[in-house]
Amino acid sequence: MSKPIFLVTGGCGYIGSHIVLALRDASYGVVVVDDLSTGCREAIDSSVPFVRGDIRDEGVLRGLFGAYSVRGVVHAAAVASVPESVAEPQRCQSINVAGTKSLLEAMRACDVGMLIFSSTSGVYDEGARPPFDEGTALGPLNPYAQTKVDGEQLIESYGVQGLSYAILRYFNVGGADPQLRAGDRKRSATTLIKSALECALGKRSGLAIFGTDFATKDGTGIRDYVHVWDIARAHVLALEHLLAGGRSDIFNLGVGRGFSVREVIKVVKEVTGVDFAVREEGRRQGDPPCIYGDVSKARQVLGYRAAYPRLESIVRDSWRWEQFINGLGGAD
Ligand SMILES: NC(=O)c1ccc[n+]([C@@H]2O[C@H](COP(=O)([O-])OP(=O)(O)OC[C@H]3O[C@@H](n4cnc5c(N)ncnc54)[C@H](O)[C@@H]3O)[C@@H](O)[C@H]2O)c1
Repeated sequence: MSKPIFLVTGGCGYIGSHIVLALRDASYGVVVVDDLSTGCREAIDSSVPFVRGDIRDEGVLRGLFGAYSVRGVVHAAAVASVPESVAEPQRCQSINVAGTKSLLEAMRACDVGMLIFSSTSGVYDEGARPPFDEGTALGPLNPYAQTKVDGEQLIESYGVQGLSYAILRYFNVGGADPQLRAGDRKRSATTLIKSALECALGKRSGLAIFGTDFATKDGTGIRDYVHVWDIARAHVLALEHLLAGGRSDIFNLGVGRGFSVREVIKVVKEVTGVDFAVREEGRRQGDPPCIYGDVSKARQVLGYRAAYPRLESIVRDSWRWEQFINGLGGAD
């Protein structure tokens, strides 16, 4: 019997394109819907059935469910940037919350009963004491994180009516497919690792550290960095958990350990061999000192284990990808 087909919303984005690869590597069928607002068609193989469309358009989703006998959905489409959510909160709300509702309605209408949702560690009350487990109090600090809390609650309410779901709360995602079939294609960096690599490539003149007086080992902020390939593989595990009749639940996806900004910069300089300029600036508003997750539930229930837990591996794969897409080799 052929394996089930899954719809990946936002499959042309950074994380979505890795999920598409992981599903296909595990021999599942994949269909993608993406409006290409931040993603691009080249992020996925031309053999993957693709519809350019908006998740808020229920008709497009129903059409896809009917045409491909879709068994379940990985919902990664979203406005995924905190600054964008602050600049345009209504748009973020509309795509992340109304978009999720439209997806859930289309799924109900077409009897598609399985959903994996891309959520974030940003939902937690960042004043809580790390490590954050799934029971840590929620306290979203920005419109983006609030939309993810709203999305989770919507999904849970459909869960009461029979939807099987896994809500995956990612920590700080980095790296690229180790085979360089995918990576982060965004033009301007929004993350520390990508920004530091752009310095190493000479695309930026220097890197700012925001806050050097936190109560951490070296005064800079600490975050839990997780490889994008480990995130992608975890979606396959979560779908297989649901396919086997496993219970709907929420899972943290991180490594369970934090690295400081200074440690990340040191590793980037070691991996690239480039000593770029770093300047120290004041704290940004709302930046918490230390975040890392407790990932034991994903380990116990899903069998999740990071294959690339070392910061060096995450930085090295990001660096190979940056060189590759900038035409500088990288494929070693
Ligand atoms: N990158 C991270 O560190 C991180 C951390 C936690 C959670 N997440 C979540 O993971 C998911 C993927 O994030 P990413 O970093 O790959 O971002 P991304 O911007 O690369 O991917 C999002 C994709 O969704 C598509 N999209 C946006 N609005 C759409 C719409 N209305 N209809 C159809 N497609 C639409 C975009 O074109 C893009 O391809 C998001 O839900 C994000 O909130 C990301």
